[in-house]
Amino acid sequence: MNQPLIDCQNLETAFAKSLNRPILDQISCTINRGEFVALLGLNGAGKSTLLRSLVGLVPINNGNIYINGVAMSKQTLPKIRSDMAMLFQGGGLIRQLTAIENVLCGCLACKTPWQTLLGFPKNDRRRALEILDRFGLKDKAYQKTAQLSGGQQQRVAIARALIQSPQILLADEPTTGLDVIASRQLMETLSELHSVNGMTIVTVLHDLAMAEKYAQRAIVLDAGRVIYDGSSSKVQAVFSDLNAV
Ligand SMILES: Nc1ncnc2c1ncn2[C@@H]1O[C@H](COP(=O)(O)OP(=O)(O)OP(=O)(O)O)[C@@H](O)[C@H]1O
Ligand SMILES: [Mg+2]
Repeated sequence: MNQPLIDCQNLETAFAKSLNRPILDQISCTINRGEFVALLGLNGAGKSTLLRSLVGLVPINNGNIYINGVAMSKQTLPKIRSDMAMLFQGGGLIRQLTAIENVLCGCLACKTPWQTLLGFPKNDRRRALEILDRFGLKDKAYQKTAQLSGGQQQRVAIARALIQSPQILLADEPTTGLDVIASRQLMETLSELHSVNGMTIVTVLHDLAMAEKYAQRAIVLDAGRVIYDGSSSKVQAVFSDLNAV
């Protein structure tokens, strides 16, 4: 049997006093190589916390995370992170830096502190420009990201995520703040990365129609637990039940 690419077993985070429960409560799910999964749920359900835990940004009290068969630990985290890229809710760009500098920041996870002191080699710069070009942003490469539109900033964030050629792309509400056309373009880009480049994609979405259209599978969280894991075509019914509660 194929080993799952992402395997969460009974994940439990710290107890949150305000919630009177752990933020993530006994989450178990596996994601296979090449899947496109929508992570859904109401505000505060735990979606961002789950994504962040997959890149080691959230302390785990109980349970295990395996990425490509490797158990997450302090020792394995650098290797695990080099296989994954994360698009943070709100973009997470450094606004004072130019587009190309932000994209180059995506290389930092794979470098030693000494290498970072030496600056970015020509190869990295060439690749950053190629990726920006792929997203129609070559002419914006040397502009501060604060001066770019929301859609352009989101494409810079994707370029930054892609520069290390990750196997897995985790995206937290990548279409937030984008207009209808820019949202569709962004989802088409994710879809192409999935179908052409074979990337495994897990993305938080609030738009159920988009989840149905682009993701084959949906995982729905509620109050820190998985309440649905299956075909994305059934999510409307899952949310109707949630509303009825
Ligand atoms: N560091 C923290 N300490 C205490 N509670 C936290 C912390 N981080 C998140 N929470 C709480 O955990 C719950 C889940 O937060 P999370 O950001 O994962 O939700 P989400 O599903 O991404 O929501 P949204 O759709 O609004 O982005 C929320 O109730 C939040 O207030
Ligand atoms: Mg969130």
